[in-house]
Amino acid sequence: MAITITMGIQKGGCGKSTTTGILSYLLKEDGYRVLSIDMDSQGNLTELLSRKPSNEFVEKSILEALQQNDAKEYIIPISENLDLLPANNFLATFPRWLYTKKTYKGEMVSYSGNPSLILDNILDQIRDEYDFIIIDTPPALSEQTMTSLCASEYVVVLFESSNWCYSAIHNFMDSVISANEFGRRDTKVIGILRNLNDVRRNDTKAFNEMVAEDYPDDVFKTIITRKAAVGRLSLYGFEENPELKQALEPYRSFYKELMERVKGERH
Ligand SMILES: Nc1ncnc2c1ncn2[C@@H]1O[C@H](COP(=O)(O)OP(=O)(O)O)[C@@H](O)[C@H]1O
Ligand SMILES: [Mg+2]
Repeated sequence: MAITITMGIQKGGCGKSTTTGILSYLLKEDGYRVLSIDMDSQGNLTELLSRKPSNEFVEKSILEALQQNDAKEYIIPISENLDLLPANNFLATFPRWLYTKKTYKGEMVSYSGNPSLILDNILDQIRDEYDFIIIDTPPALSEQTMTSLCASEYVVVLFESSNWCYSAIHNFMDSVISANEFGRRDTKVIGILRNLNDVRRNDTKAFNEMVAEDYPDDVFKTIITRKAAVGRLSLYGFEENPELKQALEPYRSFYKELMERVKGERH
């Protein structure tokens, strides 16, 4: 039965999509069967993993999987042990469909049950086929984010060392508590990843320390620094990337800490 982990924070540019892609890659390299799900209409994770424009997945995305109540039909294989449920810009119409039952194409498509659990329900169709399901979310506490949280056992909070991200954390943590109440997966934060650290700036160091003081049990020891090879993953992807080793290197200790925590929770 797959363990589902959502990567989130309602602020953009904190490394959610990049970290989702890297975590999915490290898990499949470790021999796990992984499904990556793009719940952000920007489709960044989709482009990172598929190496195709997200427009290629119009009518073949997670949105249709949710509307047709069929996850399997929309899964695309990326590499051995790594699959993707892609997204494109039309995923932005997901809340409108939830409330009106009208798709962006003007068709009436209804669903049964609790709208907060709609993603959780379709994942039940495929949980046996994976060891891990990793979900990328948009920079908003929207329906896309809340349904992802409700479908997950664990949440990794992405913290980029800045004042505006610091302001975002409290409400995000509250949203995880709401998902724990509304959902049925006992959703909890598995850790806060301090990311995109700029070693030349003292203020980022201060924010990293503040988060550690506020959430001492949650912060991972690993702090990910800004690195050109990581930024360029969006250009090169994971296959035939001449600097892949440098790009993955900072994430290996995060991966180790995360896996230790997940294994600790399961015992
Ligand atoms: N560790 C890193 N070092 C350098 N650039 C990074 C790093 N992590 C992410 N980036 C870059 O920062 C930007 C924001 O990251 P992204 O993963 O898109 O964040 P989010 O999904 O939270 O909006 C992207 O351009 C990405 O390539
Ligand atoms: Mg993103």
